[in-house]
Amino acid sequence: MSDNKVYIFDTTLRDGEQVPGCKLNTKEKLELAAVLEELGVDIIEAGFPISSPGDFESVHEISKLIKNTTVCGLTRAVQKDIEVAAEALKPAKRPRIHTGIGTSDHHIKGKFNSNQEDILVRAIQCVKWARNFVDDVEFYAEDAGRTDNEYLARVVEAVIKAGATVVNIPDTTGYCLPNQYGAKMAYLRNNVPNIDKAILSCHCHNDLGLATANSIEGVINGARQIECTINGLGERAGNTSLEEVVMVLKQHKDMGYYTNVNAKQLNPISRLVSDIMRMPVQPNKAIVGANAFSHSSGIHQDGFLKSAITYEIINPVEVGADTSKIVLTARSGRSALAFRLKNLGYDFKRDEVDIIYAQFLQVADSKKEVRDEDLHQLAKQVTVIAQ
Ligand code: KIV
Ligand code: ZN
Repeated sequence: MSDNKVYIFDTTLRDGEQVPGCKLNTKEKLELAAVLEELGVDIIEAGFPISSPGDFESVHEISKLIKNTTVCGLTRAVQKDIEVAAEALKPAKRPRIHTGIGTSDHHIKGKFNSNQEDILVRAIQCVKWARNFVDDVEFYAEDAGRTDNEYLARVVEAVIKAGATVVNIPDTTGYCLPNQYGAKMAYLRNNVPNIDKAILSCHCHNDLGLATANSIEGVINGARQIECTINGLGERAGNTSLEEVVMVLKQHKDMGYYTNVNAKQLNPISRLVSDIMRMPVQPNKAIVGANAFSHSSGIHQDGFLKSAITYEIINPVEVGADTSKIVLTARSGRSALAFRLKNLGYDFKRDEVDIIYAQFLQVADSKKEVRDEDLHQLAKQVTVIAQ
């Protein structure tokens, strides 16, 4: 393993697909799996095979289709789940079973009515069962975010000894602050004697809007896999957004981390996922939102038109987005107006732009956005006055 490569584990087809209304059929899942492989993710979590015959079929068909990427199936710490997942993954060139159990008191007492020692035994057992079928077994300690670090370290050490190749530390409820999640990873790195035998993975939910920050903090503190979804889809407020973590690592090259993802495909795949899942992307979403590269206030527009880097840290071409937009509103200035008029083929002198600008502001005050058809009207009036 290269020390600085961060593995991208895409769970759009599993955690993302759990969103109400986003359920996919096998054909849709196959289409997305193929583009995820092209995008360059390292692992595709294709589904939860025991959950339904349809999901079993999807994982099975994706396992046949995918050439190089690891294909992963989720299970509970239940023998039957693991057998069914192994069956679904049989055709995969690189199969991974993702098994695990809740480790926080909320889960141990509230969900399982059990105790830490019995859960530890079940954790070891499920990894051993899974290792009977595949060499690559990822263990998840559900609700690790709210699990006591000392107990979590005991679980992590035990599951690695039992054969886990990756250990997932989910902040299932999106509760942790970045420094707390980072400290948890650092604690595991420093206190689990066999930690170098497995990859630590971040799986963060976005209930407090911290999933991306927490995942990055996890990497800084030793994790080398991030579990994420396209457009940040996932249970409740969603999972870590794939496009965000990939671009954070790419933009901050000084940190020294890299992924295998082809950033140019981020916007096309975002649109595809949004269409197939019928789930619109919020306009102000980082990297893939409709406004991610739009400039609408006069101060920003003027600076951007002088030099794009003044107000844009990412070139939209780099992430496969449309070119940057200069949106005209009542907050826009003369340089933006002149720019948009020029794009429409009008080459007005400075004093002519001044005249149009006064009328433009009246139109802009009465509308949310001044569009090309309005500009043609305004340009026509000035041309008439000038004659
Ligand atoms: O959020 C979570 O804890 C999960 C696990 C099943 C990995 O999705
Ligand atoms: Zn999750």
